[in-house]
Amino acid sequence: MQRLRTGVPGFDRLIAGGIPEGFLVAAVGEPGTGKTVFSIHFAWRGIVDGDKVIYVTTEESRESIVNQAKMFGMDFEQAIKRKRMVIIDALLRDKADQWNIVSLTVEELIKKIIEAKKYLGYGRARVVIDSMSAFWLDKPAMARKYSYMVKRMLNKWHMTIVATSQYAITTSFGFGFGIEHVADGIIRFKKVVRNWELKRYVIVEKMRQTPHSLRVHEIEIVDGVGMRVKGPVNVTRDEVTLPKEVVEAVKRGIEKKVQEDMLMELPDQ
Ligand SMILES: Nc1ncnc2c1ncn2[C@@H]1O[C@H](COP(=O)(O)OP(=O)(O)OP(=O)(O)O)[C@@H](O)[C@H]1O
Ligand SMILES: [Mg+2]
Repeated sequence: MQRLRTGVPGFDRLIAGGIPEGFLVAAVGEPGTGKTVFSIHFAWRGIVDGDKVIYVTTEESRESIVNQAKMFGMDFEQAIKRKRMVIIDALLRDKADQWNIVSLTVEELIKKIIEAKKYLGYGRARVVIDSMSAFWLDKPAMARKYSYMVKRMLNKWHMTIVATSQYAITTSFGFGFGIEHVADGIIRFKKVVRNWELKRYVIVEKMRQTPHSLRVHEIEIVDGVGMRVKGPVNVTRDEVTLPKEVVEAVKRGIEKKVQEDMLMELPDQ
């Protein structure tokens, strides 16, 4: 089995070397957790490894993606010029641009991706769809069907796909998970504010045919470099238990409150 490296330092060892060729992997998480940065790494690694890369962007313009990549030293402009990469812009919807999606439908998406593959020519291809949930925003019940369509249609073209999806609690409650069932893999990104600081984490929730890590790992995004995996999270006793003085103070507070309440409840003499 061929595995495609993601290009995020420290990540591939969590999934036995990389994403199996032909897989559809969902990168899910709340806003600002790193889904797009991860996708950019995956795309750039493809360029470096000689793959053809098709990047669909729905919430940011092509220019925004190129600029974000540039901050990490990845030259998408060159890759586009050399016919190694196509960025399909589904945000601006300019009819004059060959690589814009004018109507945000799954049929159009699949059509454009295949057109881009033909343009780029022969060879292994990587596809990023960022984000896939944009295609079912107003009809969340269609999430599963649409994901299945994308997987089935693009499978014939031997494409390996990373598709991002914002976790929508309403979607999972109301309609069941969409892309998560259809996807061969799920990479979940998380963020937490701890000690007044934003921390980011990743966990591989599913990766078919892969002995993957089951641990939450901390990640960081560094200017000029990009994303990297720092290491597994070790929750120490200090982090889950409060310091002794705090526990004592809380106890004293509760006792005082109880005493006060009891006094209040005493019947008038
Ligand atoms: N040059 C940089 N240096 C350091 N951190 C950066 C840099 N560029 C972006 N980031 C960090 O990455 C975050 C954006 O991550 P990303 O775009 O991958 O999130 P996302 O999960 O795709 O969010 P959304 O669902 O809103 O698209 C920024 O909020 C910022 O914290
Ligand atoms: Mg994003």
